[in-house]
Amino acid sequence: EKNCKVITIDGPTASGKGTVAHRVAKHLGFQYLDSGALYRLTALSAINAQVALDDELSIAAMARVLPCHFNHGHVYLADKDVTDEVRAEQIGVAASRIAVLPQVRQALVDLQLSFRTGNGLVADGRDMGTVIFPDAVLKVFLTASAEARASRRYKQLKEKGIAANMEDLVKDLIERDARDSSRTTAPLKPAPDAYVLDTSAMTAEQAVQQVLDWYAQVATNVAD
Ligand code: CDP
Ligand code: CDP
Repeated sequence: EKNCKVITIDGPTASGKGTVAHRVAKHLGFQYLDSGALYRLTALSAINAQVALDDELSIAAMARVLPCHFNHGHVYLADKDVTDEVRAEQIGVAASRIAVLPQVRQALVDLQLSFRTGNGLVADGRDMGTVIFPDAVLKVFLTASAEARASRRYKQLKEKGIAANMEDLVKDLIERDARDSSRTTAPLKPAPDAYVLDTSAMTAEQAVQQVLDWYAQVATNVAD
């Protein structure tokens, strides 16, 4: 799978990783990995099994055999469609709690690597460029102000008809950023060779275009 080129898109919550990564993958005909979904699914499994969110051994054991699959933008856990359920903000918070546990992160490595097939892969998360795909041909780190990100999330939830409160969103977002950035294993930070893009004043389409432009530049350099 070394012929499979990888583009990594890391960044904090609601920076636009998922939207941008998905559109870039579609444009290039590449596979797409939403690594955050794996942490969310693991958190949901733990909650369903009433396992405490700091029980590292039990959660790592569950993550190692996570019965998940992805199909046409839908996410399944043991054949149940949990697409909406895993996107809930409380599951995001739970995911960030189990994501600090080194053995849980280790348990999800092979599953993440298995998405590297075909012509190329676009992977989004927190440590795609730093830990999982260090040999990526293009590494992008998306950021945006906390206000811009909270209002994006608010809008997304409203569109889905899910009740949301701006104050709680900002609080969750700041708490999750702090936890993700301060953990010792695979903290949220740009890889030294990442292109950093602040999208506070950009549309998703502009961010997609910038990533495609960067890819066109590096693709010329790595072309054989
Ligand atoms: O994956 P991540 O949590 O980083 O973000 P997302 O789920 O892609 O959500 C970002 C939301 O902000 C989506 O509704 C996008 O349409 C919107 N948005 C964006 O992604 N990028 C911008 N530059 C502006 C808005
Ligand atoms: O879409 P959003 O950015 O809100 O969250 P996500 O990408 O689905 O990730 C949920 C949580 O999983 C994050 O807050 C991280 O704590 C964790 N995560 C991680 O540690 N490493 C990754 N590669 C992806 C997600």
